[in-house]
Amino acid sequence: MSRLRGRIIGTGSYLPEKRLTNSDLARIVDTSDEWITTRTGITERRMAAEGEFTSDLAAEASRRAIQAAGIAADTLDLIIVGTTTPDLIFPSTASIVQYKLGISSTRIPAFDVQAVCAGFIHALAIADQFIRAGSCWRVLVIGAETTTRILDWTDRGTCILFGDGAGAVVLEAELNDGERGVLSTHLHADGAQIDLLHADGGISRGPPPGGGMGVLRMQGNEVFKQAVKAMESCVDETLLANNLSKEQVDWLIPHQANIRIIQSMAKRMGMSMERVAVTVDRHGNTSAASVPLALDEVVRAGRIQPGHRVMMVAFGGGFTWGSALVKW
Ligand code: UT7
Repeated sequence: MSRLRGRIIGTGSYLPEKRLTNSDLARIVDTSDEWITTRTGITERRMAAEGEFTSDLAAEASRRAIQAAGIAADTLDLIIVGTTTPDLIFPSTASIVQYKLGISSTRIPAFDVQAVCAGFIHALAIADQFIRAGSCWRVLVIGAETTTRILDWTDRGTCILFGDGAGAVVLEAELNDGERGVLSTHLHADGAQIDLLHADGGISRGPPPGGGMGVLRMQGNEVFKQAVKAMESCVDETLLANNLSKEQVDWLIPHQANIRIIQSMAKRMGMSMERVAVTVDRHGNTSAASVPLALDEVVRAGRIQPGHRVMMVAFGGGFTWGSALVKW
């Protein structure tokens, strides 16, 4: 059926310069390169510099996506940022990005979406709905985080996992019969699981007992099990909605939390790791930025070709999870 769909016409990403290796972390907490590599697949992650904010990473990734799309920034008509580590309580990071891109004069709407590691998928799904409704033509969708700013550097169970970064895509409306563009998106949440993954302080609840603004707390092994289950069932739901079999998916772009989760999903889908985007080894878990960072890497390497079906899937705090199936 002919209808408006969002097509990804450009991708971009940005990583801060500073690298934090496993050996660097072994000097801070009781851990080892061997443990981190074996249990997570991570060898290093990036860390934003002092004075470098989520909006800076987001703006740079956006400039690259806009350039790849070959468009002028002032032709965008919506900006959505998925982030859990905004520059400020308000205004939104998206508003700051609009200004940093030099397009505040266009007065286009700009807002943030908070769905932790599934933030980019949520932002993409919202953007696609604006396009399907005929309300927007070009949308800039960003996942950007400075998660290293909300870590407890004495907790070896979490501080070794996360890194900073940003990824962005430009989505453009196109009228077609489903031969390309976002085919479907699927979002979920389970608010009962707050104890397993949350930040222990906030604006309304106030600071945690020890002071500060709150840090990330996670029961890793429980989250691991739930993440695998939720992402696998989301992939099944997406295939069913599109009347496709798993063999008809060309690329898996999963959230980059742990190589063991990624391998388990690839195995279940019967996909060779050649067709799975992996950046967790070099980026760690960049939360909302992980899917667009991984997507940009395979796109820029020329590995995703027109006609390929690309399955993006993510899981994070909330719990929130979701998927987006895109035909390139
Ligand atoms: O992005 C949102 C979604 N997040 C995720 O999907 C994260 C999912 N979880 C994970 O990736 C893994 O659960 C972790 C990497 C966080 C932990 O791996 P695990 O295999 O589940 O380990 P564990 O938490 O069950 O801990 C096993 C042992 C414990 O020691 P004991 O109690 O067996 O003596 C931990 O204290 O490993 C210990 N441990 C460590 N040892 C060295 C935990 N962290 C470390 C560490 N270095 N960094």
